Amino acid sequence: MRKNKNNRMRSLEHYQKQFSRATETAFVDEQIKNRKATEHLATLFGEAESKFDRTVAMLSLVRNLLPFEPKYKYETEHLPINPEMYEFKEGTIGRGGENDVYLLESKVEGAPSMVLKMNHMDNGSTDQLVARAKEIKDEYEKVKEWFKEMSDLVPEELSLIMESPRNGKPGIATLQKYYGKDIRDIFRVMMRENLPKLLEKNPRLKAEMFNFIRITDAKAAETGEMVDLLGPRNLSIVKVGDEERLLLLDPHLISHPERNQEDVKARQKKRLDYLRTEIGYPDATAGVF
Ligand SMILES: Nc1ncnc2c1ncn2[C@@H]1O[C@H](COP(=O)(O)OP(=O)(O)OP(=O)(O)O)[C@@H](O)[C@H]1O
Ligand SMILES: [Mg+2]
Repeated sequence: MRKNKNNRMRSLEHYQKQFSRATETAFVDEQIKNRKATEHLATLFGEAESKFDRTVAMLSLVRNLLPFEPKYKYETEHLPINPEMYEFKEGTIGRGGENDVYLLESKVEGAPSMVLKMNHMDNGSTDQLVARAKEIKDEYEKVKEWFKEMSDLVPEELSLIMESPRNGKPGIATLQKYYGKDIRDIFRVMMRENLPKLLEKNPRLKAEMFNFIRITDAKAAETGEMVDLLGPRNLSIVKVGDEERLLLLDPHLISHPERNQEDVKARQKKRLDYLRTEIGYPDATAGVF
């Protein structure tokens, strides 16, 4: 957050008014409608551009390139993100096998910061990207459904196609809430701390871990699929208020077409069995994967 916060912080109402005006411009103004996506992108990430113009650019990109049936209406506050409320931070805050992760820092008190995950693994024609983005979205919906009884395990996320701030080419982007810097990878916690002791002190976290394994086993038996536990911090412990909770930060399957399935599955199984033993999961032979 900037030092001169008081000058910069404006009310949510102010941003919403500005946003409504920008929506009108992006959707009604013919000249803007005909502009190319690359021009919008340059405006969106151009430091010198006015916030208003950047909002219009973001809305135009979403309107032009969103590959799915939108769940929300293209009106004022129904859009997934209001760029007026965020400051795009240059440079990544994280990187995994598929995504470069950027921070969109909130400028509005009470509104959470967001992350923009730009897929660096998939490229190709817009049609190919749309197809892959659809797979990614379906995968997310499936994982969300699997773990629906565990509130807060799976973060909300939204995928869209936009041009990458990295290379200006179209890419798949995912938006998610920013969970801060203190995200502890469960497998690192196991190596460095006394996990059983931690769980003894926090029965709720222990129940979450047991439930996570139970559902993962059941779904693997039923579908042959499993969430990806190999990437850094994919399954993590985060602080929510002053409580530690389990978070599936990367709610996706080990399904990427370019990854060697058998090899990956074997490594996954090893990890999950290790976790089972470490936390004293009752049926250590239950793994079917
Ligand atoms: N919502 C978030 N809040 C804070 N940091 C995040 C968030 N999402 C991701 N990160 C950081 O970025 C890193 C990579 O993110 P993510 O796991 O989503 O990428 P990925 O490429 O899909 O990973 P994988 O290698 O498992 O495919 C994480 O390890 C974490 O450090
Ligand atoms: Mg990951």
